[in-house]
Order: sequence, then C-alpha cells, then structure tokens
Amino acid sequence: MKTIRIGMIGLGTVGGGTAAMLEKNRGFINKTANANIVMDKILVRDITKDRPGVSSDLLELLTDNPDDIFLNDDIDIIVEVMGGTEMALTYVKRALNLKKHIVTANKDMMAVHANDLFKLAEKNKTVLLYEASVCAAIPIVEVLKKSLAGNKIHRIMGILNGTTNYILTKMDSEGVEYSEALQDAINKGYAERNPDSDVMGYDPGRKLAILAAIAYNMRVEYDDVYIEGITKIKAEDISYASELGYRIKLIADAKYIDNGVKVHVNPVFMPDTHPLARVDGVYNAIYIESDMAGKIMLYGRGAGADATASAVIGDIIAIAKDICENSIANNGYTLFNERKIIGHKDAVSQFYLRMSVKDSPGVLSKIAGVLGGHNVSIYSVVQEKAHDELAEIVIITHSVVEENMQNSLQEIINLDIVNEIGSVIRVEDEE
Ligand SMILES: NC(=O)c1ccc[n+]([C@@H]2O[C@H](COP(=O)([O-])OP(=O)(O)OC[C@H]3O[C@@H](n4cnc5c(N)ncnc54)[C@H](OP(=O)(O)O)[C@@H]3O)[C@@H](O)[C@H]2O)c1
Repeated sequence: MKTIRIGMIGLGTVGGGTAAMLEKNRGFINKTANANIVMDKILVRDITKDRPGVSSDLLELLTDNPDDIFLNDDIDIIVEVMGGTEMALTYVKRALNLKKHIVTANKDMMAVHANDLFKLAEKNKTVLLYEASVCAAIPIVEVLKKSLAGNKIHRIMGILNGTTNYILTKMDSEGVEYSEALQDAINKGYAERNPDSDVMGYDPGRKLAILAAIAYNMRVEYDDVYIEGITKIKAEDISYASELGYRIKLIADAKYIDNGVKVHVNPVFMPDTHPLARVDGVYNAIYIESDMAGKIMLYGRGAGADATASAVIGDIIAIAKDICENSIANNGYTLFNERKIIGHKDAVSQFYLRMSVKDSPGVLSKIAGVLGGHNVSIYSVVQEKAHDELAEIVIITHSVVEENMQNSLQEIINLDIVNEIGSVIRVEDEE
C-alpha cells in the first residue's frame, strides 16, 4: 500500500477536527483510499501555544517553519486550514508551484481567487479540492461538479450560514428582538464576538460566489454578489411574516436568467410551504432546481470541527486515490460561459413593506398612487395597530423591477403622511 503524506497548515477548529478524524477512522480511511495516509507535519502560527486536548503524537508534528512542509519532498498533499486570504493565498500558490496537491476549507480565498488558483493547478498538473469551503459536511461542491454535471441548473438557493439561521429561528420561535437572539448565539458559541461576517451576509456571499461559478460555468466572484444582512429585521417583521404564511430566512440565491446570473444574499419572506422555510437552528440547506434532476435539497451541518473535517478528509481520500492510480485529473471548474452578471437594479422580486403612517383617511391611496406611478402594483395590504396618531401599513407587492421599487420608496419617504419606512424585505414567489 502506498504511503501518502500530508502537511497541514493550521491546527485550530478544522485542523484539530481533521487530525482527530484521521486518527479515529484511520483503518477505514486507509482501506477506502487504498493508501496509508499519514499526517507528516503541521504548520502553526505559535508553536509555544497551549493546546489542551491535542495528543503528544500530534504536538510532535508541529512546526512554525513553512519550509518544513513546502521543501519536504515526501509531502504529497497540503491541507490549508489556517483561514484568511493573503498569507493562505501565498502558501497555496507556493504549494501548487512545488507540485503539491491542495485541500482547502478557505471560502474567503476561494470566493475571490479560485479562477487563478485553478489555472495554476492545471499548469502544474496538481489538484485543488475545496469541498469544506462551502457548508462543511454538505457535499454540494461534488454534487454540482459531478452528479449534476449534465444538468442545466436554473437556480441554487440556500441557507448557507448557521449563525444567522439560528438567530432568525430564535426570533421566530420566541418572539425576541435581533439583539437578544444575537447575544444568545454568542453565549452558545454559534456567533463570534464580532459577528459581522455572518450577520452582514458576507460569509454566505462568499459561499454563493463559489457555488454559482461551478453551477453556471461562469466566473462569479464575491464582489458580484449583492448582499444585505439580517441586522435590520425586527420581531414585528417575523410576526407579520408568520401571520401572512411566511418565515424570514437569510437566503443566498443564484439564478440563471437571460444567459446571465443574478447572485444575491438577503433576508427573504419564504412561503411556509417551501422546504427552505423549515430549515431551523444552526443547520444549512441548499435547494437546487435543474432541468433533468428537478428539485433537490441537501441538508446538514454547515460548520464545526467534525462536519468540516468530514469534507476535508473526503477530499484527501479522493486525491490519495488519484495519486495511487496515477490518474490525477484537473478538478477545477469549467468556465465556458461568457461572464454576464445581472445587475441588482434590474432584478425582479416581490416585496414586503412595513411603514408607519398618519392615521388619517386617504393615506393608502396616496401610497398606492406613488407605487403605481413606478409600475409597482400591490398584491395585498394589511393595516393594523393604530396607536397615538399613527397606523402601521404592511404591503406585499407583485413582482416588480428592483429599481422601480427603490425609486418609489424614495418618493414615499418624503410624503408628509409617512412617518417611517420600517422594513423592506423581498418575498419569494409562491410556486
Ligand atoms: N470553523 C468552522 O466551522 C469552519 C467551517 C468551514 C470552513 N472553515 C474554514 O476553515 C479555515 C480554518 O478555520 P478554523 O475555524 O479552523 O480557524 P482557527 O480555529 O482560527 O485555526 C486557525 C489555525 O491556523 C493557524 N494559523 C493562522 N495563521 C497562520 C499562519 N500565518 N501560519 C501558520 N499557521 C497559521 C493557527 O495557528 P495557532 O494555532 O498557532 O494560532 C491555527 O492553528 C478557515 O478558512 C475557515 O473559513 C471553518
């Protein structure tokens, strides 16, 4: 049995989980790979750091000298689980140029640099796998690249971030405000002390860029994704959503229309009947619509040491098998479609509007008049909760062009009968 040696960069959450899984399932993994997979060296930032729970065998493998990995001819595969962009990118490029294969969990790097890295891998006849970079345990990259490769994908929608889904689920089930649900997520270790990457939607935006590029065979990068987070969602919006038959979810959505791709991440009123509306807590799910396979949903844990290690080890086994069978294949994506990203202003959607207005006759017709003037037609209206001199109006529109909606809102906010526009949230069409 051939021995395949691993050099790993990082021994944090994912690196620790990967080393532990390799140890725990060693016999089984080696049989599956038909190779003897050995952790050879682990590069960390601070070799003197206290690492409770790490075995003495692993501690012996630690180094803070990159050359111990890069210039070690015995190492076949480098597992990059350090995170960040610049240094990780430098290391991965160096490794590819030294003809080492790469397994990475790094969505920040892949969402921006995947295209260049695949070209470099191809040039050096090496493999770069990245299943763990999108939704950890959910094998979506392989499903898109292989199982659905012959399908025309119409749409990929997903709940790609467990932290925000936990917060929205808690707001929904307990009627609490965003700040209280966020604090609970921090206390439980589901959110970082600085939660911006999750709650502002940046993290699912990166994952969406990676998925859209594979699904649509087109260069799609993080900067192409229109992003809104969940920080402005109020308990009232969650309550109206439930009254109207919806649940609010942070949805990452990549849709193929007019030979182009529309990519966006934002809160959405999802109809109660949609499978994504029922994905709760820290779980992730990805819903794919394609011409032949139809509708498919993948569901599972999108973060955490074990879930992410599962994807990393799967990629290591795939490369180990290829090395043993002398069949290293280019595993990057094909980008044969001309790049066309549909601008946010041209996107079409239904909207939910919640506004506080003067409680006087003729208010609704004034607002309807402004909306109509911008080709925004109303699907339903609820007027409720008059207090003091104010009333609350909730409007759901028909599908409208985003730019028309934004133009009408600018006019509405200047009407003397409007006190405040509380929320503007997109609504997923009923199927
Ligand atoms: N955590 C998850 O659930 C999850 C899920 C999917 C994907 N990912 C991705 O996996 C990657 C790792 O995440 P993580 O949560 O495991 O991070 P982490 O817990 O912060 O661990 C990072 C590790 O990388 C090492 N490191 C950092 N900078 C380094 C440098 N310049 N040179 C050498 N080593 C360096 C650190 O060394 P020290 O130990 O010495 O500090 C540490 O061991 C990220 O790209 C992340 O986005 C994470």
